[in-house]
Amino acid sequence: MEIPTIELNTGAEVPVIGLGTWDMEGEAEASVLEALQAGYRHLDTAKIYGTEKEIGRALRKSDVPREEIFVTTKVWNTDQGEEGTLAAIDASLSKLDLDYVDLYLIHWPHHSERIREETWKAMEAIYNDGKAKAIGVSNYELHLLREMDSYAEIMPAMNQIEVHPFWYRKDLVDYCHAHDIAVTNYSPLTRREHLEDPVIANIAKRNGKSPAQVLLRWGVQLGNIVIPKAAKPAHIRENIEIFDFELTKKDIEELAELDQNLSVI
Ligand SMILES: NC(=O)c1ccc[n+]([C@@H]2O[C@H](COP(=O)([O-])OP(=O)(O)OC[C@H]3O[C@@H](n4cnc5c(N)ncnc54)[C@H](OP(=O)(O)O)[C@@H]3O)[C@@H](O)[C@H]2O)c1
Repeated sequence: MEIPTIELNTGAEVPVIGLGTWDMEGEAEASVLEALQAGYRHLDTAKIYGTEKEIGRALRKSDVPREEIFVTTKVWNTDQGEEGTLAAIDASLSKLDLDYVDLYLIHWPHHSERIREETWKAMEAIYNDGKAKAIGVSNYELHLLREMDSYAEIMPAMNQIEVHPFWYRKDLVDYCHAHDIAVTNYSPLTRREHLEDPVIANIAKRNGKSPAQVLLRWGVQLGNIVIPKAAKPAHIRENIEIFDFELTKKDIEELAELDQNLSVI
């Protein structure tokens, strides 16, 4: 199955669905192998998830060529600042057993503006050294993206944020789209908290799809990338079957009614 992609501001293509690997320690190697077999070509990890080593093992075992897989990892809060970030990418690459990642993200914005700037300068050096093919941020609100105009020489290729119909974040998403910053929706399945919502169940029934597939399709039709976490093989396979249907205008209007600034993390 050919998975659609979104072009980053670097020219690289990101598959619009990736496998999230938070809360997957001990299961990540098998889940990643299952996902690669099912057709996933995009994996999301972070130092703090503790899954980088297992992902490295799965990549070594898989027959899929490295260049066909989009790998994202992230610098954790306590490693931020110039030296810490430069050391953190090396540690992540070593655990992943890779020469480069496709995308390196600042996991959460630091509370100090000076450290935010220093960390970004290190990210730019990492990009210029070829250790990351693209760099970006995560959990950055509008004012923090705007602040980057004052210090960034390279603008972020991505903002990875919590987005689902219960927290649409239209202003932030629109700003990113207008500034060529791709958006990845994390917790796109609301961590299962709202999978049984009756509005979603009804739309799922109308489309002959599952509630999870409706949520993922919604994110993709918004023009974003989705990274559902699934350890169960049946979930891994179900979540990628979202390219054979389209939500109607009515479906999308009904989902818009669910927006209530509700975070699930
Ligand atoms: N940048 C950040 O700060 C940040 C924050 C949070 C998350 N993330 C990333 O985003 C990824 C996804 O978010 P998330 O892990 O918070 O939550 P999520 O993807 O919204 O939900 C994951 C949960 O949904 C279940 N699930 C998966 N597919 C399903 C299906 N088809 N039907 C029913 N249940 C299903 C999973 O169960 P099983 O595992 O049992 O299959 C798991 O319990 C993370 O893994 C991580 O990579 C990033």
